[in-house]
Amino acid sequence: MRLLIIGCGAIGQTLAKAIETMDEVDLFYMTDKSEEKAQQAVKQYHKAKYIANTDESIRAHLKHLDLVVEAAGQDAVAHYIPFILGFGKDVLVMSVGAFVDDALREKCFNLAKKKGGRLYVPSGAVCGTDGLHSASVDKIDSVELISTKGPKSFKEVPYLKEEGIDVDALKKPTVIYDGPARDAIHHFPKNINVSATISLLGLGLDKTMVKLICDPLCECNSHRLVVKGVFGEIVAETDNVPFPSNPATSYLAALSAIAAIRRIAGNVWIGI
Ligand SMILES: NC(=O)c1ccc[n+]([C@@H]2O[C@H](COP(=O)([O-])OP(=O)(O)OC[C@H]3O[C@@H](n4cnc5c(N)ncnc54)[C@H](O)[C@@H]3O)[C@@H](O)[C@H]2O)c1
Repeated sequence: MRLLIIGCGAIGQTLAKAIETMDEVDLFYMTDKSEEKAQQAVKQYHKAKYIANTDESIRAHLKHLDLVVEAAGQDAVAHYIPFILGFGKDVLVMSVGAFVDDALREKCFNLAKKKGGRLYVPSGAVCGTDGLHSASVDKIDSVELISTKGPKSFKEVPYLKEEGIDVDALKKPTVIYDGPARDAIHHFPKNINVSATISLLGLGLDKTMVKLICDPLCECNSHRLVVKGVFGEIVAETDNVPFPSNPATSYLAALSAIAAIRRIAGNVWIGI
């Protein structure tokens, strides 16, 4: 199996370390908009090779690739994912928040269907997506995501200024947003990935409800997913540990990508 990792940050580098040890992978490429970062990254792995972060370079390597992993950002999704799916190649997308853009999402989903490439979105920094996936086969009544984070995660959010909320002045855990996922994502783009994943799996961006709580006494990044439907009820809690190199990203998000690649590379899928 041969892969390309786009983005050599917290997730990309953690992936590379794991992929290096996978017997199924004989070679992987890495690229980044910072050439220096990508060049430094590939030096650490025997199986890794650098490629330039250009359309030409990626196109030239595509025919040798089995999977392209995006771990870069929403701009990279918009730029590269339709292009790669257009060649019928499989992609794994971490910056799932990009699919809040209805036109981009439709384009990518249609290209996957038409050209035969698979589009994988790992569960990321939240648990309970497996149950939500199964539950959505029948009627779901409600999906609610309650995310609790410290004040640092809500710095410089224009919406909070407009609402007159000063997160540094809070004395106790306070609900700072309660409404549909689409608006939550619009007002709090840093919370975009988990809300997007949950919405895409279940009731969509307008019916999935999001509550954001700012807890002045914690550095936490936790999610409580509550799903109600014909099947019964799911309550899934995740208390995430942040990456030291990028506190905005939860370690579990990188682990979910590694787990997804292991599944894709393997023949036995438990808990699918
Ligand atoms: N699905 C989830 O639950 C989840 C959780 C955490 C993070 N994420 C997303 O995954 C992505 C990567 O996260 P991270 O913590 O590794 O970020 P990071 O900032 O540590 O690393 C991103 C890397 O990508 C590079 N990059 C940015 N734009 C690029 C482009 N257009 N082309 C090539 N390289 C580019 C940057 O130079 C950087 O090295 C982010 O978009 C983040 O929002 C998703």
